[in-house]
Amino acid sequence: MSSINESLRLRPGQKRSEIYPLLHEQLEALFEGEDNRIANLANAASLLYFGCGFWWVGFYIADETAGQLVLGPFHGPVACTRIPFGAGVCGTAWKRRENLTVPDVDAFDGHIACSSESRSEWVGCIFSGARPDSFVVAVLDIDSTVLADFDETDERELARIAARIGRLWPGWK
Ligand code: SME
Repeated sequence: MSSINESLRLRPGQKRSEIYPLLHEQLEALFEGEDNRIANLANAASLLYFGCGFWWVGFYIADETAGQLVLGPFHGPVACTRIPFGAGVCGTAWKRRENLTVPDVDAFDGHIACSSESRSEWVGCIFSGARPDSFVVAVLDIDSTVLADFDETDERELARIAARIGRLWPGWK
């Protein structure tokens, strides 16, 4: 019998759309009974990294006082630790309070290249308590080595995951 990790790893030729239902299920199982946010973010990053085969998956946590995003749990190559409000794809998503799909990172003015392998990127806002009218407490940043790798299914399913992760923070309103 295959382990959880093996069954959640994207197989050659398998589409990500086939694996998202398993990822949602597994995310719930991982969060169940665990209230440590760092542990849960770390497992969420690993789940998306191995499950979807992305190049880099991680969280940047908003430091409102410093006006910066600070690197949190991630999977993939080492990355820049601080991103100012409004800078790069992550800081822009935070400022605009919206998710961003970047089909070609070279065409995004101000993109911060942590790795020259990245070709496309998706950044999702994490709202505390998963309420879009509340604070952006973090962003979920995902890099791919494939140009225009994020389609509508990815946008929808990843946004759902970002919303679920927002519930790891208490609601502010
Ligand atoms: N590309 C991001 C920086 C973070 S790394 O991709 C991990 C940006 O432009 O904000």
